[in-house]
Amino acid sequence: MKMANSTIVAEIQRLKKEKDAVILAHYYQDGEIQDIADYIGDSFYLAKMGQQVQEKVILLAGVVFMAESVKIMNPEKTVLVPEMQASCSLVKGAPYKDYLAWRRQHPDGIAVTYINSSAEVKTISDVIITSSNAQQIIESIPKDRKILFGPDQHLGRWLSKKLGREFEYWPGACEVHVLFNAKRLTDLIRENPDALVLAHPECDASVLAYAQVIGSTSHLLESVTKHPHKKFIVATETGIFHQMQKLRPDAEFIQAPVVDEGCKCNDCPYMKMNSLEKIKHALETLKPEITLPEDLRSKAQTSLDRMMAITSGKPVTWPSEFSL
Ligand code: 13P
Ligand code: SF4
Repeated sequence: MKMANSTIVAEIQRLKKEKDAVILAHYYQDGEIQDIADYIGDSFYLAKMGQQVQEKVILLAGVVFMAESVKIMNPEKTVLVPEMQASCSLVKGAPYKDYLAWRRQHPDGIAVTYINSSAEVKTISDVIITSSNAQQIIESIPKDRKILFGPDQHLGRWLSKKLGREFEYWPGACEVHVLFNAKRLTDLIRENPDALVLAHPECDASVLAYAQVIGSTSHLLESVTKHPHKKFIVATETGIFHQMQKLRPDAEFIQAPVVDEGCKCNDCPYMKMNSLEKIKHALETLKPEITLPEDLRSKAQTSLDRMMAITSGKPVTWPSEFSL
């Protein structure tokens, strides 16, 4: 028999105390999951909190690459996910062997890799970025160095234009964000001329061209408190509406249209695999747990450590050449 949500929530709160656990959740989780989290944020914030929290057990309500990043940087902790199948199209579209072959084609390049990548791919990357810190990190790379940008080509192309710098691209994409449709978006803008358009940089350039605010989930959330508009058109995953509506109960939030009318494609199928039931089960059993061979973990840590160092204003050195 299915338990009522209030009973599951009470049980999760009890288990958190019993197991000395903390819940970190991404903004794309269902509202009911965001509401039981101790910390909610974008992927950079979650990685930082994963390093700082004191509890023995960290449950990451998001997707597996986010939990892997926490485990890589904080190996002493037990790191849980509600669902081990919760991957990401960017991770799936960048297999280690192919990424390695690409790196070998450009041994003089610096590999700037989006956090939406596997732990294996992180071992052959020089630095990890998220959409909230990419600009700062890329600006810290000497201008005469070639940049290999992967796996999200749309985020890369947006940054390249913004920073006036050429990259070599890995041809990956987010299967959710690429479905937002520019033609249907222009119709929606025409019907709502008073709305401000917000978009995540994983969208195609044809959609980003119509957005007044482009940035990470936390940046988009911040923008709804900064702008006085009463209407916002939002081109990112649906989970974000929960916090937007809490921050601006007076405003209307409209989902940007996808290619196919009536499809629920603005939902990330991986993010939405999680549920309160699965979170309760993970806390009860301490499974599924993220485990990584130590050799892999420590190699992957180097690229994440560079991200953390640069974002804290510390100097870093760059390898002159890639060899493997
Ligand atoms: P943020 O870092 O902006 O939260 O993005 C994570 C993500 O997976 C976007 O699809
Ligand atoms: Fe990956 Fe896209 Fe889902 Fe984010 S929204 S986790 S990039 S598939």
